Amino acid sequence: KHYTVSEMEDKIRAIKQTLGDKLFIPGHHYQKNEVIQFADATGDSLQLAQICAANEQAEHIVFCGVHFMAETADILTTEKQQVYLPDMRAGCSMADMADIYQTERAWKDLQERFGDTILPLTYVNSTAAIKAFVGRNGGATVTSSNAKEIVQWAFTQKKRILFLPDQHLGRNTAYGLGVPLDHMAVWNPIHDSLEYDGESEECQVILWKGHCSVHENFTVENIRQLRENDPERRIIVHPECSHEVVMKSDDDGSTKYIIDQIEAAAPGTKWAIGTEMNLVNRLIENHPDLDIISLNPLMCPCLTMNRIDLPHLLWSLESIMEGTEQNIIQVDAVTSADAIDALDRMLQRK
Ligand code: 13P
Ligand code: SF4
Repeated sequence: KHYTVSEMEDKIRAIKQTLGDKLFIPGHHYQKNEVIQFADATGDSLQLAQICAANEQAEHIVFCGVHFMAETADILTTEKQQVYLPDMRAGCSMADMADIYQTERAWKDLQERFGDTILPLTYVNSTAAIKAFVGRNGGATVTSSNAKEIVQWAFTQKKRILFLPDQHLGRNTAYGLGVPLDHMAVWNPIHDSLEYDGESEECQVILWKGHCSVHENFTVENIRQLRENDPERRIIVHPECSHEVVMKSDDDGSTKYIIDQIEAAAPGTKWAIGTEMNLVNRLIENHPDLDIISLNPLMCPCLTMNRIDLPHLLWSLESIMEGTEQNIIQVDAVTSADAIDALDRMLQRK
């Protein structure tokens, strides 16, 4: 049956009412408004992981975000709690850039090269298998809002880090902590090879050659044009953008940091934001007293985040009501046990 938008919204409201606290809907800031309006909690990936870890009463967690976030929620919740992703195609192209076989091969090579001097870290934007690999090897997960602290901690443990899978977050974070660019190598998972010109002894950071296809769309050329035409506009970007873009911007920080800066901005100030479109549009709507634009006029949506929409949310909720649950995200116990070590180190639960 084909429902109108308002029929779908009414149905979702009714199901939320019926299930009450048994149902919990976390929504990432990059989700569409049509979905976010039904979220019981919104946040960036760190906040949503913390919120899910703290929730003990919800039997059904319908995760409005992407696959790796739902896996993280499953790992951090109890066995009695079931996590669902309303559309299984809501993946993350960055997370898909590091698979466990490539990672094991890279690790073997790096161990031969550098011995036992490397600690692996992974951005939460990675599969549960990668988180488990990192957990088994003493490392931690990071998000964009705590990357600096976790990288600092890693250097108290080992001389070098392997940073998966986002080269940009890794490079920007390490550079911000004083690691020179020529002390950073890049691991190319397609060729199983290390790209590095410097002295082995000096290599401090090995960056996995992955990236976010959304944030890479904010370019140095976008910044040049803005500076030329609108020099007073303050440019703030997410650290998933390239190093050149981050260096040429006025400020950079995680999704939460960007939101906090906009919420604290003086009325009438002008901003260009380099992050996902749904969030930028929401900030524009919620702050009519500010002049906000996207750094790239094409806006840059995350297509996989956008796969979660009203029909998929309703379908997922109806399947729970009917006892025919679909799209259950269940990380196996062995993977979970190792991945939780990596997540706990980040959440400082151990
Ligand atoms: P944060 O929520 O950690 O800022 O990450 C941004 C992102 O790309 C989520 O996929
Ligand atoms: Fe992945 Fe980038 Fe989309 Fe985030 S914005 S889910 S990193 S593709």
